[in-house]
Amino acid sequence: MDSLLIEGGNKLYGEINISGSKNASLPIMIASMLTEDKVKLKNIPKLADVRTLKEILKSLGTEINTSSEYIELKTKNITSNCASYDLVKQMRASFWVLAPLISRTGYAEVSLPGGCAIGTRPVDIYLKILKKMGVNISINEGYIIAKAENPLEGIDFKLKKESVGCTHFFLMLSVLANGESRLTNAACEPEVKALGEMLNKMGAKVSGLGTKELNIKGVTKLDGVSLKAPPDRIETGTFAIALGITGGKIILKNTIHRENEILLRFLRETGVLIKTTDNSIILEKNDTRIKSVNIDTQPYPGFPTDLQAQFMSLMALSDGKSYIRENIFENRFMHVQELVRLGADIKLKGDKAIINGVKELNGAKVMATDLRASASLVIAALAANDKTKISRIYHLDRGFYNLEEKLNNCGASIARVKERNG
Ligand code: EPZ
Repeated sequence: MDSLLIEGGNKLYGEINISGSKNASLPIMIASMLTEDKVKLKNIPKLADVRTLKEILKSLGTEINTSSEYIELKTKNITSNCASYDLVKQMRASFWVLAPLISRTGYAEVSLPGGCAIGTRPVDIYLKILKKMGVNISINEGYIIAKAENPLEGIDFKLKKESVGCTHFFLMLSVLANGESRLTNAACEPEVKALGEMLNKMGAKVSGLGTKELNIKGVTKLDGVSLKAPPDRIETGTFAIALGITGGKIILKNTIHRENEILLRFLRETGVLIKTTDNSIILEKNDTRIKSVNIDTQPYPGFPTDLQAQFMSLMALSDGKSYIRENIFENRFMHVQELVRLGADIKLKGDKAIINGVKELNGAKVMATDLRASASLVIAALAANDKTKISRIYHLDRGFYNLEEKLNNCGASIARVKERNG
């Protein structure tokens, strides 16, 4: 298992190219199964989660060709209807393959999902959607067994929670269902828009993308498509927060600043100077203390839960007291105890972390607990005195492409250490 050894204290100066979005790439790769034709995708990040998904898709019958520029996926025939526990446990998004499997063949066996340990993360809403569309559901030895005797029926459905995954799932099911469907309280995240736009390019009829109400007119067939995944707004936000804690000046290239509007607003309040162009963000921070701000995570366009941990590291060094309330997942505070090991003063009170800013953090041995928590430890370590060793960074590799190289090119000092015993 690899660890990162980070020598803190360097300011960041330079340019960083933002990679393709992980959370857009996963659903669009899965949606490629909705057609027998070829789907060509560019800007798919070379991440562990993408590799895992490729294995799952291959196990179901998708032929995949990968070059340095693109991935081509073609699912002429579904050759297996079963997504196994061994693969699905590694990544929750793989549960979404249930949609193309049931839609194309009327039968699916999919293991109940795993993924980052950030809450209970039930699948009750997914099952309600399937049942309402006419699918029979049973659960056997940890697997969902889904059977549809007839083609899926278009439905009118209201999400009790604004769920990103359920919105992806609903879109993938309804585009090929009979008649019209409507989803209210739909997620508005840019990744949902990316999936919907892809489906429309394939011949689907989805309207309302980017709003809380999606209307879908079912079609009988979808065609192949060629497209580029959008930039990763969470990677963008992570580097922007890193600059906020280290100081210096960086340019984030090939990104969309509008998708990080709320983060950039809060970063300005903490003291970062920010300029934007069509496809880049220029951030500059001097030596003044970081100002504290309060954060409430919310569905898009609110403050993303996927940047909550990273922002907490920034607040740990702020000049004052602040709180961060996590409204999306009930257990997304695993990074708190690790930040405390670095000298942060953070107390948990229910869904709220109360942060008393300290003047300095000090290097220590810490452990990455989930994907975004790992990034928060890297950020804190960049500003901590001496060396920090972060173990279990396989979490980081699931979602950040070349993180240490990108930061080192801007002056950070991060070494990857191979270890024999975890
Ligand atoms: C997606 O997860 C992202 N994952 C997450 O990013 C992100 O944190 C999350 O959306 C919220 O933005 C991918 O896109 C691959 P949800 P998802 O369904 O779809 C509850 C990362 O680090 N819920 O929007 O699984 C759920 O428990 C990851 O990249 C139910 O109650 O999240 C949560 O409280 C982590 N029942 C809320 O909805 C259900 O059946 C929102 O979760 C489904 C969800």
